[in-house]
Amino acid sequence: MSAEPDKNFRLEQACATDDSIQQVHAQLQKTKPEKTGGYPLLPLGILGLMCAAVFFGSIYLAHNSIRFDPLVYNEHASRDKPGAQKIVPLTRAQLGKKVFDVTCIACHQANGLGLPGQYPPLAGSEWATGSEERVIRIVLHGLNGPIKVEGKDFNNVMAPLGEALKDEQIANAISYVRASWGNNAPEVTPEAVAKVRAETAGRKTYWTAAELEQVK
Ligand code: HEC
Repeated sequence: MSAEPDKNFRLEQACATDDSIQQVHAQLQKTKPEKTGGYPLLPLGILGLMCAAVFFGSIYLAHNSIRFDPLVYNEHASRDKPGAQKIVPLTRAQLGKKVFDVTCIACHQANGLGLPGQYPPLAGSEWATGSEERVIRIVLHGLNGPIKVEGKDFNNVMAPLGEALKDEQIANAISYVRASWGNNAPEVTPEAVAKVRAETAGRKTYWTAAELEQVK
């Protein structure tokens, strides 16, 4: 009994001729399966372009917006107009005040006069305003032993600052010293500091005034 339907099925299969089978297969091959997986490429491309536009737009703004300064973006504003704000970059000496106020002020004091008997003055000092080769060495590697500044004797220790400060910070601090409290000596560049740093790379001990007097 249970074998009956099976038998019929086989019988039906057997009834199919080669022609009818080919016909059915030909029809099956004509109808293509619907697309199910994958994304259409065009919208993805457009999305990519938009992302790129936003990305480069942001970078452009970051570089060129100058914080949307009204003076820069107002096409009617004139820089020469009375009262118009002028953008003047800070000088090396002005930048150096920050370094001085953090690093040197504790000893040499805000007025550059130092403390009698302990810390020599930078205001009017022949060392501070003289050869840049000497000042740079003092800041890089420190100074100890007897030294005469503006006719007064000191015999103390200044710790080296070459490890703590970058070339640019040293150049700025020295430039500030050389342009403040009535001092009027040329500024010192980071390149000059880098040069002295390289030339004295092996130096492990503090300088003495006597030694520095040998340096031009
Ligand atoms: C911890 C205290 C201290 C700090 C900080 C210090 N100095 Fe000095 N400085 C001294 C002392 C002390 C001397 C003298 C050393 C000696 O007696 O041999 C000196 C000497 C000098 C001299 C040569 C003498 C003179 O008066 O012209 C210069 C230039 C100088 N310092 C610059 C600086 C600068 C620039 C900084 C900061 C970047 C600085 N010093 C930070 C204590 C300090």
